[in-house]
Amino acid sequence: MNKDLRKAIIAGNWKMNKTRPEAKELLEAIKPLVANAQGKVEVVACVPFTNLETAVNTTAGSNIKIGAENVHFEKSGAFTGEISADMLTEIGVTYVVIGHSERRQYFGETDETVNKRTKAALAAGLIPIVCVGELLNEREAGITSEIVGKQVKLDLAGLTADEAKKTVIAYEPVWAIGTGKTATADQAEEVCAFIRATIASLYDQAVADAVTIQYGGSMNAKNCAELLAKPNVDGGLIGGASLKADDFNVIVQAAVNG
Ligand code: 13P
Repeated sequence: MNKDLRKAIIAGNWKMNKTRPEAKELLEAIKPLVANAQGKVEVVACVPFTNLETAVNTTAGSNIKIGAENVHFEKSGAFTGEISADMLTEIGVTYVVIGHSERRQYFGETDETVNKRTKAALAAGLIPIVCVGELLNEREAGITSEIVGKQVKLDLAGLTADEAKKTVIAYEPVWAIGTGKTATADQAEEVCAFIRATIASLYDQAVADAVTIQYGGSMNAKNCAELLAKPNVDGGLIGGASLKADDFNVIVQAAVNG
């Protein structure tokens, strides 16, 4: 496995946090800290819909890319409360988180809708960050591979090899999200390697080697270096620690040095 074949990406997932002034303040603080990552590590902030325009304007000319936290799969129409991929690209959004476990758990997201959103995002030129991961009882039952393998196969179903290469996968064990319980670096590596092998079986090794696979789940300033040093962990999707400029920067620097 060769990490040079793919892009390292550190992405913050702000979830339902920050008003527009707060978003501007946080991004202004992050901007100078992570400027040295340019050309080495892609730095992304995925923010609530209401903050997108502020975030794009605040980071203009910097090396920080902006992502949304969800996208609808239809192009337009009678879907009250939803946001289309074209609406996101028009603002200047680059990435979009799809199928986060919180959306699967609280908002009825399924692998079928994740697949539809992923296709819509790619068609509009957005880079999807597709989230997969097992529940605690699934890990305890020894079926992590079955669960994650099924998610990867269904979520990427019908994507061309070129589309699959552009897609980012975030492995987020649900039991590690917001709990302070991080997967060990070996656990994260094992599943990220399994995801890459699954992609190789669906496409080929060249596609698998090109796909960025992030780890997410209580990644923080203390544990990031060990996780990011693993050969199949190409970055992080960071919740809580992305809301503090200094902590987020420590993770970005670990990726730069890793
Ligand atoms: P925490 O880093 O807060 O555990 O959240 C992880 C996550 O869900 C990122 O998408």
